[in-house]
Amino acid sequence: MIKILAIETTCDETAAAVVQDGSKVISNVVYSQIPVHKKYGGVVPELASRQHLEAINEVIRRAIEPVGFSDISAVGFSRGPGLVGSLLVGSQAARTICFLKKLPLIAVNHLEGHLFSAKLTYPDLQPPFLGLVVSGGHTELVKVENYGKYKLLGATRDDAAGEAFDKVAKLLGLGYPGGPAIEKISVKGNPQKIKFPRPYLAGSYDFSFSGLKTAVYYFWRDRKKSDKISVADVAASFQNAVVDTLVEKLRLAAASQKIKKIVLGGGVVANSRLREKIAELAKKEKLKVYLPELPYCLDNAAMIGAVAYHYWRKKIFADLTVESKPDLRWHSWNH
Ligand code: KG4
Ligand code: ZN
Repeated sequence: MIKILAIETTCDETAAAVVQDGSKVISNVVYSQIPVHKKYGGVVPELASRQHLEAINEVIRRAIEPVGFSDISAVGFSRGPGLVGSLLVGSQAARTICFLKKLPLIAVNHLEGHLFSAKLTYPDLQPPFLGLVVSGGHTELVKVENYGKYKLLGATRDDAAGEAFDKVAKLLGLGYPGGPAIEKISVKGNPQKIKFPRPYLAGSYDFSFSGLKTAVYYFWRDRKKSDKISVADVAASFQNAVVDTLVEKLRLAAASQKIKKIVLGGGVVANSRLREKIAELAKKEKLKVYLPELPYCLDNAAMIGAVAYHYWRKKIFADLTVESKPDLRWHSWNH
């Protein structure tokens, strides 16, 4: 039995976990910095790195508590993409532990963590599959041929889906983070009330959410009292437009790539309307869809441990001098 300590500090969650054999979560500690960033309406990078520094030792201590270091076979960490100051804290912690405890170090791409987060619920899930990462920083459609073998099919040309949720929530005065706020108020709204544009970008697997965000802005600014439109209607209609776009792109990609297995990951996958619509798509198109459980949608270290296990099996280890990569992409990662 292989137990891997995993560390995740790409953005505003300081997280550590111990995962056994790539899917059994022994501990999963997440210290969320949301209360610190909330009053600024978004993540402040300088504050994030300082918070990581303050929290990291205690988060790792709690994650390791159920097993102890003597039980650990390797340390995995998120090498990127992410905020440079935040990444440095996680990488420094991982490298220091490996140096002191003489353990192998495993560098994981944060996005492949999201792609394989469903594995923590479905241990038998294996590539190849069509993957969609929808988070605050990314909206990427990826053909996953194997661990470490990724082909980027499409990505957002502007805002990520989660970023659009956050920006629209801000302009509607719903607070931060926007995704959960929009989902909550949408329950009281009519998703069909306003026909916001669906940016399908015909002939491409790319996404674009900034026009939709602008459409919501002008609609909200120019609304008239007599229209009897509530903020809940606008939120629900916006959410509907994002969900429709994501689902339609997945349908198209699955059909044209002839892939029946689909895996989602990232914070936006916590959205229950998206989960419902994906389930409907799966039924209609006879697709097998794997969604991570809610705690593994948002940033966490267990998903990094799930991927690190496979690199451990292949003995793909990183040097202790490895540098963090804030702009790490899929094409520079295939191995
Ligand atoms: O994966 P994640 O924790 O961090 C990144 O790697 O970016 O995703 C955070 C993003 C935020 O933009 C947040 O608003 C969005 O996920 N999010 C949601 C929901 N919960 C979080 N978006 C829609 N509906 C939700 N329930
Ligand atoms: Zn993430």
